[in-house]
Amino acid sequence: MAKITASVYTSHVPAIGAALDLGKSGEPYWQPVFKGYDYSKQWLKDNPPDVIFLVYNDHATAFSLEMIPTFAIGTAAEFTPADEGWGPRPVPKVIGHPELAAHIAQSVIQQDFDLTIVNRMDVDHGLTVPLSLMCGQPQAWPCPVIPFAVNVVQYPVPSGRRCFELGKAIRKAVESFDKPLNVQIWGTGGMSHQLQGPRAGLINKEFDNAFLDQLITDPAGLAGKPHIDYVREAGSEGIELVMWLIARGAMSDVAGGPAPKVAHRFYHVPASNTAVGHLILENQT
Ligand code: DHB
Ligand code: FE
Repeated sequence: MAKITASVYTSHVPAIGAALDLGKSGEPYWQPVFKGYDYSKQWLKDNPPDVIFLVYNDHATAFSLEMIPTFAIGTAAEFTPADEGWGPRPVPKVIGHPELAAHIAQSVIQQDFDLTIVNRMDVDHGLTVPLSLMCGQPQAWPCPVIPFAVNVVQYPVPSGRRCFELGKAIRKAVESFDKPLNVQIWGTGGMSHQLQGPRAGLINKEFDNAFLDQLITDPAGLAGKPHIDYVREAGSEGIELVMWLIARGAMSDVAGGPAPKVAHRFYHVPASNTAVGHLILENQT
């Protein structure tokens, strides 16, 4: 059977992608950001997954006000990096895993979560920047990726509780797939940031670090945090953090297993307008 072996959490700041693509990652401003991912790049090489289930948000790129799926699973064979206004990022195309994605759609929908099935979708910085941070600049991404897009851009957004419960359903779905695949689940977006209005530039280090602490030790409690708390304390775009609860809900301790091992933890301010947070949790057997 397939198994979720680890979860990875990371911010997705678009300027990080631009820094890499334009050869600026060695500049003093960016060096400390990328340094936080040195361990992670080696870790991913040492712990290579067969498939990454990548929870992210689209930023009005593939979707728009014309159509707003709350949860969308990419079931296609491949996904092209999106043109977000400056041309597509010069990164590899994303190879999907239609067979596992279709199985997860079947299982999760039958567990009463209404997913939108997407067979054609360009993927924006929300998906490609986490891959760049974890993989660097390879000719091809190291394995197939199933994109799972969550609406955290246009209200109403899903609650942390629903995201956490969805993570549990995704774990059950993966573990009922009849092939011995090593699957990682990544939760991306966040941490605190606000891009518009009078509070633009808001960063809340205290909130972010408390979020990381509680995500590790008490995710069920953290899932009870109402959306308005994210907006008040972590800024309007801080709501992206509910996506981390999907990945956390898919870890085996939530289903009665042992607590995960914290393989890596990193926090850095600033990166563009965003606090960068990053965590790697390994399931223990
Ligand atoms: C920034 C962060 C984001 O999450 C995003 O989607 C766009 C911009 C920023 O910090 O600039
Ligand atoms: Fe974003």
